[in-house]
Amino acid sequence: MIDKISTLGGYIHEYQKSVTKPEEFWSRIAESFFWRKKWNKILDWNFSEPKINWFVNGKVNITENIFERHLFTRGNQPAIIWEPNEPNDENRVLTYNELFTEVKKFSNVLLQHGIKKGDRIAFYMPMIPELAIAMLACARIGAIHSIVFAGFSANSLADRIIDAEAKMVITSDGGYRGSKIIPVKEIVDEAVSTCPTVEKVIVVQRTNSEIAFDDKIDLWWHECMAGAEEYHEAATMDAEDTLFILYTSGSTDKPKGIVHTCGGYMVYTAYTFKNVFQYSDGDIYFCSADIGWITGHSYIVYGPLLNGATTMMFEGIPTYPDAGRYWDIVSKYNVSQFYTAPTAIRSLMSKGQEYVENKDLSSLKVLGTVGEPINEEAWHWYHDHIGKNRCPIVDTWWQTETGGIAISPIAGIIPTKPSFATLPLPGIQPIIVDAEGKELSEKSVEGNLCIKYPWPGMLRTIWGDHERFKKTYFSTYENLYFTGDGVKRDEDGYYRILGRVDDVINVSGHRMGTAEVENAINEHPLVNESAVVGFHHDIKGQGIYAFVVCGELSTGGEEGIKTSIRKGVTKIIGPIAKPDRIQLVRSLPKTRSGKIMRRILRKIAEGDYSNFGDISTLLDTSVVDEIIKGALENV
Ligand code: PRX
Repeated sequence: MIDKISTLGGYIHEYQKSVTKPEEFWSRIAESFFWRKKWNKILDWNFSEPKINWFVNGKVNITENIFERHLFTRGNQPAIIWEPNEPNDENRVLTYNELFTEVKKFSNVLLQHGIKKGDRIAFYMPMIPELAIAMLACARIGAIHSIVFAGFSANSLADRIIDAEAKMVITSDGGYRGSKIIPVKEIVDEAVSTCPTVEKVIVVQRTNSEIAFDDKIDLWWHECMAGAEEYHEAATMDAEDTLFILYTSGSTDKPKGIVHTCGGYMVYTAYTFKNVFQYSDGDIYFCSADIGWITGHSYIVYGPLLNGATTMMFEGIPTYPDAGRYWDIVSKYNVSQFYTAPTAIRSLMSKGQEYVENKDLSSLKVLGTVGEPINEEAWHWYHDHIGKNRCPIVDTWWQTETGGIAISPIAGIIPTKPSFATLPLPGIQPIIVDAEGKELSEKSVEGNLCIKYPWPGMLRTIWGDHERFKKTYFSTYENLYFTGDGVKRDEDGYYRILGRVDDVINVSGHRMGTAEVENAINEHPLVNESAVVGFHHDIKGQGIYAFVVCGELSTGGEEGIKTSIRKGVTKIIGPIAKPDRIQLVRSLPKTRSGKIMRRILRKIAEGDYSNFGDISTLLDTSVVDEIIKGALENV
């Protein structure tokens, strides 16, 4: 098993080793896993092609490291505890033995339906145990899972299925979310009707909703599983075979399929989970994310299970039946580590103390946050009211691309500071650069965050587009991985993430490309063009502000068109991309060469109507005054 860092001195020592002798360092960590064949080279890399190969020629199966490695010692220990949407419905507890049986059976189901190593399978599922079972079955047979968050629209799902040329989709008849039932299968049907590569759709029965069922394509999960063979030998995977694809937004309109591979991702998620959360045997760990995002992949499923941990899966939402739900779960299961997003903390904080008071939170040992900067007020509320001033908060900075946590306190070992992600984990070599890529080596400095050396969990490519991979991450600054984030380092060497410096906004911890939202808005028949920027939002962190130019107004007038724009965006991307504010404008502030001056729009969206800097290159400066006037009326 992986050794835990247990003192500050231990951290400093490990970090030093990871920088001076990275290969030796990672080789020692990797030795604690089961490899079918050992690697013959730890790392083969350059950031110019770019090429990143870890554990070269090593053969491994990640599920063998979850199951076979743990069965003798942990077979009867809960692997997954699933808490349903309705607090009084029966929960499900799957021990390692039981989960293993389900995974093996579903592996055989996949093989029976012609799925081969390397085939892609798209998922569109609510948070039910079958989601974890199916993803692990993919990993076991070497199929590549591409999980799409079940809040995306049919359109977005179809784009992702088409890009990955998925052969199969796994879904459910419906999904419970608070008081709502989400028509999951209906959305899949709409998407699949435009995706010729999909041969089969496997449907889990969850809500018993009336659904269309096409016998030529659709299969019931329970029927497939009823006759499935229980024996299954894991496929031998190369360390660099793709484990999964996960789509994320960037600065263009087309989401990128981030590719993670078997060996490095396994080693990195397991190592970071154990250390950051200081997981000990017997702990109950609860991450409230959805498995449709990277946090769920790495820190609900792979990281915890690779460590033989007990991980929770929650089907519902934090405010159902009331805003005390998370705290009820903590006390019901004696949760030891709780990991959530700042947006959830702010939202629960705004509902008032009464949902926290009288809840037994004494089992908690570690609190975590992820996905966006946490403001000091939320940090203190979390620390005082949830952690009762005794639980360290790990503010974990990372990205879909990093695979696992990269900059973060190690719970109880690295002293915390509100809203600082603190120090890099062993293996991560951050570097701060100015706009020209010059290293800012002073301790206390602000600039763009890059990483200068590979780590095992990093992405390897963008699915089907290596050139885009190179351009997005390795071309801004030579020989550096560019994160897209701005950062500040203080005199203690602590890192504070300031947020994105590219055309990506972070809404409730979810990444949104401004170009993606603009494209969806521009699909509206009355819209000529639009510009989308982020603005400060008390709960969501950032909200979406859209400046829209319309040719004419429809019969519903301004309000009518705003409503139909919001509907359009929901249909094209999903409700998470719906603009919070829409301002109709005569035209956008453009330079003489036709470039939109976004910094002006960002300021206006923030309610700052001065200090626009040099606007002499604007084609028509009166546009700015008009937009300010409109913004004041729009607030
Ligand atoms: O801007 C950073 C922000 O979220 C981005 C990555 O988003 P995504 O790939 O969706 O992954 C989110 C979950 C890992 C980053 O570029 N971000 C993530 N964690 C933090 C953060 N910003 C500040 N503090 C964090 N702890």
